[in-house]
Amino acid sequence: MFRPISTSTSIAAILALPVALAQNSLSIALGTTAPSGASNYLDPSFAGFGIEPSNLFSFTGGDDYVNHLSVQLLQNLAEYSGAPPHIRLGGNTQDYMVWNESKTEMRWAPNKNSQAQGAIAADSMIIGPGYFSALDRFPKDTPVTFGLNMAYMDADWADHIVALAQGAVSGIKNTKLYSFEVGNEPDLWLQNGFRTGAWSGNTYTSQFLDRCEQVCTRVLTPAGLPCAFFEPPATASTIGTTFEISQLVSDGILEGRNGDNYVTVWNQHDYFYFIGVTRTPLTLDDLMDMDQTNTQFAYWEKQVGIALKTGLPYVLREMSSVGPIGMPGVSDVFGASLWTLNFFLYAASIGISSVQMHMTDNSNASAWQPIPMYGHDTTFVRPQYYAHAAVAQIIGNGNGTTQISALKTSNVGAAYDGRIRAYTAYANNNLQAVVLINSKEANSSVGTKDSFTFSLSLGSSNANKHVYLSYLTADGAEVATGVTWNGMSYDDITGNSTIVDASEYKFTTDSSGKVSIPVRDSQAVVANIGSKLGVNAVLKPDPTQSKKSSAASSIISGSRNAVYTTAVTIFLALAMVMSA
Ligand SMILES: *[C@@H]1O[C@H](CO)[C@@H](O)[C@H](O)[C@H]1NC(C)=O
Ligand SMILES: *[C@@H]1O[C@H](CO)[C@@H](O)[C@H](O)[C@H]1NC(C)=O
Ligand SMILES: *[C@@H]1O[C@H](CO)[C@@H](O)[C@H](O)[C@H]1NC(C)=O
Ligand SMILES: *[C@@H]1O[C@H](CO)[C@@H](O)[C@H](O)[C@H]1NC(C)=O
Ligand SMILES: *[C@@H]1O[C@H](CO)[C@@H](O)[C@H](O)[C@H]1NC(C)=O
Repeated sequence: MFRPISTSTSIAAILALPVALAQNSLSIALGTTAPSGASNYLDPSFAGFGIEPSNLFSFTGGDDYVNHLSVQLLQNLAEYSGAPPHIRLGGNTQDYMVWNESKTEMRWAPNKNSQAQGAIAADSMIIGPGYFSALDRFPKDTPVTFGLNMAYMDADWADHIVALAQGAVSGIKNTKLYSFEVGNEPDLWLQNGFRTGAWSGNTYTSQFLDRCEQVCTRVLTPAGLPCAFFEPPATASTIGTTFEISQLVSDGILEGRNGDNYVTVWNQHDYFYFIGVTRTPLTLDDLMDMDQTNTQFAYWEKQVGIALKTGLPYVLREMSSVGPIGMPGVSDVFGASLWTLNFFLYAASIGISSVQMHMTDNSNASAWQPIPMYGHDTTFVRPQYYAHAAVAQIIGNGNGTTQISALKTSNVGAAYDGRIRAYTAYANNNLQAVVLINSKEANSSVGTKDSFTFSLSLGSSNANKHVYLSYLTADGAEVATGVTWNGMSYDDITGNSTIVDASEYKFTTDSSGKVSIPVRDSQAVVANIGSKLGVNAVLKPDPTQSKKSSAASSIISGSRNAVYTTAVTIFLALAMVMSA
């Protein structure tokens, strides 16, 4: 469950102990500075997306059009957080792809001369420079983890992986190549025919190092890039396998070759639920039971701890509520947005450095639908995107110094068991915002919904201060449209935001710094001290400042947060700021 905060003797930890008042409320006293167990400074690219490689062009557009919806939706998040979300271009189809330098068109081609092994052959798709030209439509400096094909193992495998890696290094110009995955989910390769016979974490390790060595000496070093550029093991699940991080370490994965270390972060994958794999049925109410998230990720939480002890960060590069491609009525409705908000904050609070929510062009769990499908005439934005917007603004609000800490919310009474979560966000080491989630399922058909009240003590230094509320809300848990975050709605075609609720939700703490905030069933609130989220300019963090221990010394100036898009909304926003 939550990392124990009581093991520390700091005053903040003692104050963080909750007291249950009565049903439907919880009293929480907060320390005013970040406790030792809080996350590192969150990277502005923390809350990212995975894109299935075969579907890239659905998200970017092809030769005949640019997918402006995707570009704008990514740009919005960049403006909120200070940098574009981290993109992982990887998945099953990365291990089907081979390179041909003459393919400049923006589509992949089936390989008519496919020779390789595999249930779907490891050389069945051809990509070329057009692939990275399309990717480069995404916002400037979007960090990209590109998945190389490791499944391919014919005699010329080295030339193949070098060609793909070189294609990425040479072709990625506007976005930013951050790292390589080498193979997707090798723990499943006996099942999909990519390997036969003796295949284990040990054989994987030596083949992984073989490939890193080729790419290091033939591509990265000549390009002036570091060889610590790879993210193993990209596994689906290591429970009961030989692919656990500690096993791979014993197998020598961190020893590299020729004095070069190749590993830059630990990368694992998981889903909350996977159709065809998870044995129990799933309802929206299950997804919204946040305790079930803790249960599902208990093992991964241990992996995070093991990973961090090796001195390297841990990332979840493939994640989603429901895999492989969502579940209508569950992953595509507002309840999933609350799940997503909680998941990102939970992940941050347990020390995960980055999370990529996986997208395919036919998934009901993709944050937006990049091409018209499923009875819609147009593209559209799913409720999940609104949680990405919320997280991006929470992160940007700290100008590169946001830290997240989970509060203990277990003692809330039977009616709200598993439905209440609270997180603190710190900026410059000081208490800045509190995120309050009430994921009790309430449908749009219920007229007057119940609420749960959080009685917060923000400390005497926050006495008589204004606290501004930003809502992640909709008419009910089951709706797929009409979601708003911080009063904003995103256009299904352009991806631009408009303000649909310019009301100011402002509370004032009492003379001891206390404030009580009701949160409706199926709703989340961010209570920010001193200003409304998104009103202040967001500064881009110094790229060298990733650990909380390296003080926020040199912050470089970034662009102003472009939340307000029309003259009317600018006027409303100014009025709101003036009256604050
Ligand atoms: C690359 O594609 C071109 C055009 O389809 C073809 O002529 C050529 O043989 C291919 N190259 C390789 C190495 O397969
Ligand atoms: C996605 O949702 C739509 C309803 O919006 C449904 O018709 C379709 O079958 C779903 N697709 C999958 C793969 O579940
Ligand atoms: C972030 O920077 C902006 C612009 O300088 C400033 O208005 C805001 O107060 C800063 N936020 C924090 C938490 O320091
Ligand atoms: C909400 O509606 C769904 C069907 O859309 C139903 O399965 C569920 O039981 C309802 N939940 C509540 C709390 O009314
Ligand atoms: C969307 O907003 C951006 C500014 O954030 C603006 O440049 C662009 O023209 C807008 N697009 C549309 C279609 O309104």
